[in-house]
Amino acid sequence: MIQVERVTKRYGTGKGAFTALRAVSLAIKTGERVAIIGKSGSGKSTLLHLMAGLDTPSQGSVTVDSRNIGTLGEGGLNQLRNRTFGFVFQQFFLQPHLTVKENVLLPLKIGRVGRRGREARTLEALARVGLSDKANNRATDLSGGEKQRACIARALVNEPSMIFCDEPTGNLDTENGAKIIQLLFDLNQQGITVIIVTHDRDIAQQCGRIVELKDGRIVSDRRVA
Ligand SMILES: Nc1ncnc2c1ncn2[C@@H]1O[C@H](COP(=O)(O)OP(=O)(O)OP(=O)(O)O)[C@@H](O)[C@H]1O
Ligand SMILES: [Mg+2]
Repeated sequence: MIQVERVTKRYGTGKGAFTALRAVSLAIKTGERVAIIGKSGSGKSTLLHLMAGLDTPSQGSVTVDSRNIGTLGEGGLNQLRNRTFGFVFQQFFLQPHLTVKENVLLPLKIGRVGRRGREARTLEALARVGLSDKANNRATDLSGGEKQRACIARALVNEPSMIFCDEPTGNLDTENGAKIIQLLFDLNQQGITVIIVTHDRDIAQQCGRIVELKDGRIVSDRRVA
């Protein structure tokens, strides 16, 4: 469960300050599948980053499983991001010269998982995204859709309870985009909370809930049948 309470986010100070979110409140339950939509500059990425503990609010609070993440400290926050959250972005952020397997196991290295556990969990995550046969390829040699699947495997390797996605299909063609969305929805069916920022109305319609931002405010929050 994520609870965003009256969160305001200002970038910069003084005359150059810009308010990207204005007193936004939102609660997302475990297991939900939520789309965040809105025009460019409406605050979608800002909201996602604040929920995921990648940035801090100027005012208000973000609570994850009844803990205010503003009180966690750097160590606690790192642990939350590494163990409880998975991230999938438009830019893949893979290490190009490492193999797919080496990329996917990076969060386990950071989490100090032993060598044998790492190997098993990495192979399992690759199998879940259908990328077992590319485990030893260099990340740079993958197609766009395969790169995004590798990113999802990397997000899965620590068995997160939530996955935050910012335009996960933004660099993919329609067909590969649809496959990535299907994969994310399959993970949601397996109990992972999935939050997707998207420009794509069709993708949003397939989520259980659509939250729309405009100029830093939620202008609609509706359930989709
Ligand atoms: N680090 C920053 N410093 C100053 N302004 C910023 C910063 N990050 C974002 N902004 C501004 O905050 C507003 C919201 O940005 P945000 O990235 O959340 O929008 P978005 O809805 O994700 O847009 P897009 O669809 O283009 O990705 C924008 O006007 C942006 O220029
Ligand atoms: Mg954005």
